[in-house]
Amino acid sequence: MPIQVQPTASGFGAEVSGVDLRQPLTEAQYAEIEAALARHGVLSFRDQPIEDEQQEQLIRWFGPPNATAAQLNNSRMTNPYFYDVSNVDEKGEIMSEEHERRLYLQANLHWHTDMSMRQPPARVTILSARVLPEVDPPNTEFADMRAAWEALPAERQRELEGLRVEHSVYASRAKVGYTNFNEETRKLLPPSEKPLVRLHPGSGRRHFYMGAHASHVIGWPKEKGQQLLEELVEYATQPRFRYVHQWQPRDLLIWDDSCTLHRSRPFDDQKYRRELRWCSARELEPVV
Ligand code: OGA
Ligand code: MN
Repeated sequence: MPIQVQPTASGFGAEVSGVDLRQPLTEAQYAEIEAALARHGVLSFRDQPIEDEQQEQLIRWFGPPNATAAQLNNSRMTNPYFYDVSNVDEKGEIMSEEHERRLYLQANLHWHTDMSMRQPPARVTILSARVLPEVDPPNTEFADMRAAWEALPAERQRELEGLRVEHSVYASRAKVGYTNFNEETRKLLPPSEKPLVRLHPGSGRRHFYMGAHASHVIGWPKEKGQQLLEELVEYATQPRFRYVHQWQPRDLLIWDDSCTLHRSRPFDDQKYRRELRWCSARELEPVV
């Protein structure tokens, strides 16, 4: 069956069909998916009842997988590359409002890109829906950092080119009041510096690189840099730059972490279960 790519009207986001992701990809299928990803930034695949092992094989096509920080939410995960993006605790029960992991995951409600504090950072993420709320499953929203950059006047682009930004998990988690990191996690996740504007190799387009982990501008007073980053995220995530994914059971998303931002949306998490599996592949070189 040939792979089909159906882009949205804006070209940001596309639905891909004609491939069963439980089976190993062929080189040709991988090349088509990678090309679609480079172009559209976010790819959705419907009806992919995939297991962790198959998801791990899939992410390995895109690069070496990132080990996750074990402390943070993973008591149900046996695979070192997976995050349990769910509102369910170690025992499989819905987490109470006070649960530490619930607080930690609430940072996903802020526009971010995965593992931007790592060096090298994530390049590609795969998120697979295993259990969704039967009523009003929340969307996941994406914003196109290439289109947002290109829509700026040249003069504004000149002012922003060349700025460097510190990315830190402590900055993003402070936004939701989470500070309880242990020594091992602190060693795994030191803050790092990245350019605010980067070149996307797959498309040759320039883009913002920022989001909730981006804490301040190097060499600027902290507050001034924080304010600029807040303004830029607000600008770059306007509805005109968005793709909104409405989840159906067994959906799988693959997205490019360098040139997009995303956020999760609230839902009635004391009533309904929502369980997704997350893993990512990193860029091959540190970002300088
Ligand atoms: C994540 C994330 C989005 C969602 O796990 O990194 O952003 O809708 N998840 O759960
Ligand atoms: Mn995320």
